[in-house]
Parts: sequence; C-alpha cells; structure tokens
Amino acid sequence: MANQNVHLVRMVNMMVLDFHRRRGFTVVIIVLLCCCCTRRCISFTPPHRGECRFFLDTADTDEWNSLLPLGIFHGVTTNPTLLERADEPCTVENLHRLADEALMRTNEFMCQTWGSNPKEMYDNGMAISRRDRERIVIKVPVTARGAEAATMLVESGVRVCLTACYASKQALVAASIGVEYIAPYLGRMNDNGKDGFDECARMQSIVDGLGSETRILVASLRDADTLADLAAEGLDTYTFSPAVARELFDEPLTDDAAAQFEEAAAKGGTNSFA
Ligand code: E4P
Repeated sequence: MANQNVHLVRMVNMMVLDFHRRRGFTVVIIVLLCCCCTRRCISFTPPHRGECRFFLDTADTDEWNSLLPLGIFHGVTTNPTLLERADEPCTVENLHRLADEALMRTNEFMCQTWGSNPKEMYDNGMAISRRDRERIVIKVPVTARGAEAATMLVESGVRVCLTACYASKQALVAASIGVEYIAPYLGRMNDNGKDGFDECARMQSIVDGLGSETRILVASLRDADTLADLAAEGLDTYTFSPAVARELFDEPLTDDAAAQFEEAAAKGGTNSFA
C-alpha cells in the first residue's frame, strides 16, 4: 500500500512537472510569435527612415501639400519671416493650427518664439508648445536673451532648437544648455564672407567631441549638392526650402531611364491588366 502511494505521488509529481514544462514551452512560443509580429509591424511602419533628418523649411501649406507626400521629411520648420512670406499670422492660435496640420503628416513641427525679454520668450514658447509637448520644437535665437529663455524652456521639458547661428562657437552654447538642435545658417554665413561649410563641419566635430546629443540642423541651404557634400562629412540633419527639395529630384538621366522603363513596360502589354 505504501509502495502504491509512493508510486502515485511520483506520477502526480511527473504530471505537474510535465504541465510546467509544457506551460513554459507555450509561453516561449507566444513570446516568439509576439516578437515576429512586432518585427513585421516595425518593418511595415518604420518609426523613422535611416539616421538622416530632413525638414521642409516653409510655412506655405500649399508647399506642404505638394512636398510632404514625398516621404523624405521628418518635420516642418517655420519662423516669423517664413510665416510673413506665407501670409500666416504669427500668433499662438495660428501656430497651433499649423502644428496640427503639419503633425498629421510629419513627426515634428518647429516654430519660433518671440518677445522683448527672456520671460516673454519663455511664456510664448510654453504657450505654443503646450499644444503638443512631444512633437513641437521651439526655436530660440542663440543670443544671450535667447539662451536664458532656452534654459528655462529646457528645464520645463520643452524641446528647443537654438537658431540664427552664424559661428561654430555657438555649438558650445547649445551643448551646454542641452538643447536638442542648433541651426547654423550656412548660406547666410557665406553671404557674410564666412565659410559656411567649414563652420557647419566644425560644429559637428564640436558636438561629437563633447559627446553632446545636440543635432546640427543645417539651415539656409541654397542647393542640393551642398547638402550631399555635408552628408558625406557626416552631417545628418537639414532644413531646406521647397526649391532645394525639388532639386533633389532634378536628375534628367534618371527621368530618361524612368521614361524608357515605362515605354518597355507599355510594350510588354501591362496596359491589358489595367
Ligand atoms: C531657417 O530658419 C531659415 O528659414 C533659413 O533656412 C534661411 O534661409 P535663407 O538664408 O536662404 O533665407
């Protein structure tokens, strides 16, 4: 009888162990399936494509409609001058409206704060970014007043881009405050007798050397070739006008090749499937 009981206990133990093993196996299978599904989802909807970050530098919503579908833009950048050019009022309410529109199609919307002292700049920046703290980046000119406002904004959890940068030493200000971006005006540096390309490349070395996470957002680009040259130097973040965006696709040899493919496809009778 005692033997029978021992046997029974062993059998129950084995059954329990087996159940646990099977349950463990099932859990492993479920985890693997989840991983596969997640990978599939990620590959279908990439959070961002590559390390490069392009911004469309205009407040003209017709240009947004025409160029954002290209899929190359991470976000849109504006400033009071661009708003004026596009006949868009520079008010908190209107910036909220534009932010809503841009963020339906991109990841980030940058717009500039204003004010006659750091407190006013801070208050306006807070009011604009309130609409979407995660995805609105507040631009602040890299002046002493701007630095003070930017510091307060960063401390309040607002994303900041220091702008109107004309000298590589200003990268040190950006890295010290810990802003996310600094925007050197390459074209305007050249207009003022500086070597804009060198200043931008130097700024990248400064932030890399300091181990800072501030991104060098090259602005005031006048042509797509300079963009390619800077990318070859390791710069990866740019804002450019609709004209420069169109220049990226201005390659007659590609157009000819694409036309030849279309002709060949038409001869192959693809139209019969239409
Ligand atoms: C950035 O904020 C500016 O809009 C900009 O890039 C200026 O470009 P521009 O010098 O060609 O006007």
